Amino acid sequence: MHVEHNQKIALCEFGEELGLIAPETRNRQDKQKKVEQILSFVEEIATVSRHYSKSKPLQLVDGAAGSCALGFFIYHYYHGLIGRSVQVKSIDTNAALMQKAANTAHRLGFSGMDFQNGDVLDLETQVQPDVVCGLHACDLATDKVIALGVRTGARNILSVSCCQHSFRKKMTFAPELRFFTEHRIYRDRMTYMVADSMRALLLEMVGYRASVVEFVSSRATDKNAMLRAARTNLPASRSAIEGYLRLRDAYRTAPRLEDYLFAFGRLPEAVRT
Ligand SMILES: C[S@@+](CC[C@H](N)C(=O)[O-])C[C@H]1O[C@@H](n2cnc3c(N)ncnc32)[C@H](O)[C@@H]1O
Repeated sequence: MHVEHNQKIALCEFGEELGLIAPETRNRQDKQKKVEQILSFVEEIATVSRHYSKSKPLQLVDGAAGSCALGFFIYHYYHGLIGRSVQVKSIDTNAALMQKAANTAHRLGFSGMDFQNGDVLDLETQVQPDVVCGLHACDLATDKVIALGVRTGARNILSVSCCQHSFRKKMTFAPELRFFTEHRIYRDRMTYMVADSMRALLLEMVGYRASVVEFVSSRATDKNAMLRAARTNLPASRSAIEGYLRLRDAYRTAPRLEDYLFAFGRLPEAVRT
């Protein structure tokens, strides 16, 4: 555990005071669940960044940031609680939320925070991020967050998928799986499993070690699988390529991430359809 108990309490109080929770969380119980997700996310960031050099500011990008609650918590944790220099850049297509967050950061004197209204893949940055993260980035925005991490050469990418409508629409299940997928709960779970597993294999092909982990209890959110990737710069392995092609053939679909990585010239030709 890299975020201490008293620091978590301080972060909770900070979040409560500022009401930094997304507008869709109207009641207190939902807010607490959101806080739990964010605290677990901060914990993940603290874990992956613990070996980074402390001589320069930690550079974080939060894609599809919404209310920017995650960015505020991260900033407060590093800057306010452990006294470490940090820069957080948040981006979202919702202009009103970005403006509101910018006003809040100004009021708090959080000068290392920066907000951009726009599509994740249009992020403007002069620095290479250490961590690119996305918490419940809608649908294709999940693929964009991961693609942004690869394009910018982030050391770590942390992504928690949200709705997977586009992926699910194209997905085909083998006949014998019908006995699972006729139950909506299993159809949904299989969609997440296949989509995130394919994204993990794509990341393995472009020089990242990737795994999917449960980052928070399912009591806090049923969308609690985090794709966690660390840059290795290793070449694509045969097993990652073969595994990916097998899943793509079996489910007759691919995450949009594949297109982005091809567009960046990063995927091996063996993956081209
Ligand atoms: C479910 S909210 C999650 C917000 C925040 N990460 C959180 O956990 O509270 C999804 C956000 O993704 C944003 N979004 C969707 N597509 C996007 C895109 N292509 N680029 C940037 N933001 C996007 C929406 O505006 C929305 O704020």
